[in-house]
Parts: sequence; C-alpha cells; structure tokens
Amino acid sequence: MTEKDKKMKYGPGKIINEFDVDGNNVLFRVLKPTDAEQALKYINTLIKERVNILWQKPFTMKQEKEWVKGELKKNKEGNSINVVVEVNGKMVGVGRVERKLGHAQEHVCVVGLSLLKEFRALGMGKRLMNILCKLGADELKCTIADLDVYDRNEIAKRLYHKLGFKEYGRMPNGLNHYGEFCDHVYMYKELNK
Ligand SMILES: CC(C)(COP(=O)(O)OP(=O)(O)OC[C@H]1O[C@@H](n2cnc3c(N)ncnc32)[C@H](O)[C@@H]1OP(=O)(O)O)[C@@H](O)C(=O)NCCC(=O)NCCS
Repeated sequence: MTEKDKKMKYGPGKIINEFDVDGNNVLFRVLKPTDAEQALKYINTLIKERVNILWQKPFTMKQEKEWVKGELKKNKEGNSINVVVEVNGKMVGVGRVERKLGHAQEHVCVVGLSLLKEFRALGMGKRLMNILCKLGADELKCTIADLDVYDRNEIAKRLYHKLGFKEYGRMPNGLNHYGEFCDHVYMYKELNK
C-alpha cells in the first residue's frame, strides 16, 4: 500500500461499516489489491447461478487481476468506490459507485450491487445500497444515482423502489438472459432528498 493509499479517506481495505447479522460479523470495506482470488471465486459463483447480471461466462484469474487493478486505479482517481461485503472474513457481496464520464454528467453516479445466495434477504442489500448512495453524494459529490436492472429481477426492483429509485426508461428486450429476452430497465434517484 502506498503513502497516497493510506491518505485516501476510502483507500484500499478501509472499513466503512461493521455490524452483526444472525451472530455473524459483517464488514463493509473498500476493495484491496489482494482481493483478486476471492473476487474471482465470488463472480464465478454468481455466473454459475445464472443471476440477473451482465456477465455469463466465467472469468479467469488473469482477467480478475486486471479488473481489480483497474478498479483500484479509478478508486484512487476519486471517481469510484468499490465496496466488499465480508462475513467472517469471506467475500459474500460487492457494491460499486462510479461517477459517469464526461463533464455534462459528472454529477451522476452509477450504482450496482450483488450478494451470494446464502446472504440474501437478510437486509444487507438495503444497507449496502444506502451506503453506496451516501458515498456517491458525500464523496463523489454526485446529486443523482443511476442504475439498470433486468425487468425479470423482481427482488432487486422492489428493493430499488423501496429506496426511492424511479424508473425513467426501458429498452424492450435489451437483455439476453441465456437465450431468453427481457426488458432492460433504467432507474434513478435524486440524492440528498
Ligand atoms: C438484489 C439483492 C442485492 C438484494 O439484496 P438483499 O440483501 O437480498 O435484499 P434485502 O434483504 O436488503 O431486502 C431489501 C428489500 O428487497 C426485497 N426483497 C429481498 N428479498 C426478497 C425476497 N426473497 N422476496 C421478495 N422481496 C425481497 C424486499 O422488498 C426487501 O425489503 P423488506 O425486507 O423491507 O421487505 C440480492 O438479492 C442479490 O444479490 N441478488 C442477486 C444479484 C442481483 O440480482 N443483483 C442486482 C443486479 S441489478
């Protein structure tokens, strides 16, 4: 870890929140360089489950190392924050908030999150999304959060609606879920409101 990393408010590995769920210690912390192995296992588990995310083919260690490196670079530049959810030391979820590129939309951040199956419906998704929006507002100084979701993902849509996100558009059949087409839904939320 470099001196610059140590000075960053949300530098690699920084603990954001810690709490208990069903007697398990849950940690929300920032991504760090040594996360590649766990992150690879994590994403490939979701892909195997065929969850409603954009990726459908397993990643390799080489790709994952590159991904972690790229994400940490963007974190360092102050344009994004990657949050890891750890339960008893194991990566069980990830979240991300990233400023949109281009001067005209640098007040808009994109948020996204996922959890391993065994850790869903415990309230962690709601907590994580609230934290991502807060980081977007307080750290990235954004006023709007943007996200996209599969229309078939009723659980995620319910969560987003509950947290104040509103649908602003959809691309009919914009997503191909292993051969089954589904609308791509776009949602936004005004932050600090
Ligand atoms: C979508 C996801 C992040 C939600 O996180 P979660 O921890 O399971 O959700 P929470 O326990 O915080 O629940 C939040 C709200 O979601 C809804 N919800 C969660 N689980 C649900 C279930 N099994 N059935 C119906 N609604 C559910 C409820 O409205 C709930 O609010 P409530 O408890 O006040 O009623 C999680 O289910 C997940 O990782 N899914 C797979 C990956 C994915 O789809 N990611 C999103 C891509 S856009």
